Amino acid sequence: MKIIKVKDYQEMSRAACEMILEKVKNIKQPVLGLATGSTPEGLYRCMVQAYKGGKYSFQHVITFNLDEYLNLDQHHPNSYHFYMRKKLFDHVDIPKKNIHIPNGVAEDIVKECRRYDERIKSVGNIDIQVLGLGINGHIGFNEPGTSFTSTTHVVHLDEITRKANSKYFHNIQDVPYKAITMGIGNIMESKEILLLVSGKKKALALVKLINGEVCEQFPASILKRHKNVTIIADYDALTEL
Ligand code: GLP
Repeated sequence: MKIIKVKDYQEMSRAACEMILEKVKNIKQPVLGLATGSTPEGLYRCMVQAYKGGKYSFQHVITFNLDEYLNLDQHHPNSYHFYMRKKLFDHVDIPKKNIHIPNGVAEDIVKECRRYDERIKSVGNIDIQVLGLGINGHIGFNEPGTSFTSTTHVVHLDEITRKANSKYFHNIQDVPYKAITMGIGNIMESKEILLLVSGKKKALALVKLINGEVCEQFPASILKRHKNVTIIADYDALTEL
C-alpha cells in the first residue's frame, strides 16, 4: 500500500481528484467506483470545479457506487442516490445511463444484488475504486465479519455505523438497520483502490489497518492483499501512527 501524507482535508480532496482526473483523461471509458459519507465530499467538489473550469468532460465515464440504504426511496434526502445527485451527478455531464447505484427499494433484493454484480463484470471491472474508512474498519457497508469473498449483498448495519451515520438523520431511530453493498470481493477486483482517510476520528482505524493483521473482523485489512492501493491520509488521521 502506498501512503500519501497530506496536510488536511482539502489537500486530500485535491490529491484524490488529480488521481481521478488522470483516469478520466487517459482511459477511453473509465469506470469509477464511488463512495459516500463525508470523506469524499471534497473530492466531488473538486471534480465539479474541474468540469466547470471547462477542461474536463465526464461524458465517457461510467460510475458504480458502493452502497445504498435498504428501503430508503431514491428521493429521500438521506439516500445515497440523493447524496450523489446533490454532490456530483447534478453538476457534471456523466450520462444517466452510465450511473449505477444499488437499488435499495428493489422488489427482489437478491436479484438486484446479482444484477449489480453482473453489471460491474460487464464493463470489465472498476478502474479505480474510491473508499472511505468506517471507524470499525468497514469499507462500503461491509461490516466486521463480512467474508472477504463476498459479492453485492444485504447487510445489517453495526450499531457503531448507525451511530456514526446518525449525524445525517434527525435522530438515530431514523437510520436504517440494513443496507445493500458491493462485497469485499467486488472491491478487491477493482484494478486500483484509493482509500481516503481524514480526521482524528479515523486515526485508530488507520493504525489498525496499517499495523494490524489481515482479518475479517477488520474488513479494510484486506486492502493489504491488493496490488494497487493508495491511501491518502491527512495529518489528523495519521496522529496515532
Ligand atoms: C459510511 C459509508 C461508507 C463510508 C463510511 C465512512 O457508512 N457507507 O462508504 O466510507 O461510512 O463515512 P464518513 O466518510 O462519513 O466518515
